[in-house]
Amino acid sequence: MGPMESMKVVVVGTGYVGLTTGVTLAYLGHRVIGVDKDPEKLKRLRAGKSPIHEAGVQELLASLGERLAFTGRLSEAVGQADVILIAVGTPSKQNGEADTRYVEAAAREVAEGLLPGRAYCLVIKSTVPIGANRRVAHVMERILTERGVKAEVRIASNPEFLREGMALYDSFYPDRIVVGALDAEAVETVRRLYRPILEQTFEPPAFLPRPGGYGPPPLITTDPTSAEMIKYAANAFLALKISFINEIAGLCEKVGADVTEVARGIGLDSRIGARFLKAGLGWGGSCFPKDTAALIAVGQEYSYELPIVEAARTVNSRQRQRAVEKLQVALKGVRGRTIGILGLAFKPGTDDVRESPALDVIRLLLERGAHVRAHDPVALANARAALADMHGVSGEEWEVEFLEDPYQLADGADALVLATEWGEYRNLNLERLARLMRTPVFVDGRNLFAPEAVRRAGFTYLGVGR
Ligand code: UDX
Repeated sequence: MGPMESMKVVVVGTGYVGLTTGVTLAYLGHRVIGVDKDPEKLKRLRAGKSPIHEAGVQELLASLGERLAFTGRLSEAVGQADVILIAVGTPSKQNGEADTRYVEAAAREVAEGLLPGRAYCLVIKSTVPIGANRRVAHVMERILTERGVKAEVRIASNPEFLREGMALYDSFYPDRIVVGALDAEAVETVRRLYRPILEQTFEPPAFLPRPGGYGPPPLITTDPTSAEMIKYAANAFLALKISFINEIAGLCEKVGADVTEVARGIGLDSRIGARFLKAGLGWGGSCFPKDTAALIAVGQEYSYELPIVEAARTVNSRQRQRAVEKLQVALKGVRGRTIGILGLAFKPGTDDVRESPALDVIRLLLERGAHVRAHDPVALANARAALADMHGVSGEEWEVEFLEDPYQLADGADALVLATEWGEYRNLNLERLARLMRTPVFVDGRNLFAPEAVRRAGFTYLGVGR
């Protein structure tokens, strides 16, 4: 095996996916240019500052020197590139479909900058509707023809499976890499791009050691449409696995079983697997809500229903309502009560509040006339922005108090809802919290605590499914 071949890579979009991928590829030894339209982001990135809260990205960014540069000018950047990765956003349209306008705009700009006589590999990383690779190919061909430029463009779909908060880990130590392409050359290029990962020949970053027992990941090569489907099917399956355990959790509450015990009992069956069986307020974030909606929208195009995926979504929103109903019962109504929300991020380890269960719970509480206070170790600013333009049905302003100290949250409150299982919440002094409250009711929306410990501290404990 020879030394790694350093390729010239352009990554379009410096969001979670684009930035993590760019940083990883530069770390592996490629020359990477990250492209973004947002001048503020570019300024930060050029100063070596990560615009996203993602473990390790900041450290790597600062260490890559000339291997990673940033620009706002896509067409100028792509000329000399070997590989161009598209990692721009695909927000949901009204009907749930993933909106590819930014992907297509990027493809157009790329085509404007390609040089005659060169060969390029265009890799689509953005989560796009099934069949989008064909559209991108078409858009690019049209522009190249208009320009009279003969350049070879090979297109590959390369979906990502990065978890926020673990994005670098998932990027260095993936379970698998999927590439969908119609010609073998494109597959070969992607294989070369990821070779150090596929062979695990890179020196791990100090803060991200190779996990014990981790072997080289398989490369799944398939057609582009199947690659796109793999992405959606993976996310839909994970989402419905969580919804399944949440559905069972509700029944556990009725019959007096403990869902954490049930999850352990079924998870040890290797056909089921233990992960993604944590009952709670349900899933949020930038992927599961959007991708399940998009999959249903794809089905609709073909008049094909996806009742299992639909049910996963229904159960997921019911989880939020059920938490509020528990409060209503425990407090005999929430109107005029003061409820403290512990955790606003859609999961721990991130400042992302997109589709966060916490925000849904807050909305439901505000609609029912409760006063809401909220705490999060890192997501306060994002949550404030997300809730800023919320109004009641009659147009009144809704106020949420954002507090930096969980004990202030508890002071005189009627109930606490733990919505995000931040590790630091484990160290809360529960006795002190309980003493501060008007009525010590604790809704543990993530089953973070042992019920007994919370009860001993003086709380009424209400978990999920136990
Ligand atoms: C997910 C996928 O894991 C990733 O592969 C894909 O590329 C993008 O979507 P992410 O959205 O970052 O990643 O978060 P993830 O860790 O998967 O959690 C998603 C949501 O499910 C969170 O709100 C989390 O709190 C919730 N969850 C997860 C549960 O409620 N129970 C579980 O057992 C696991």
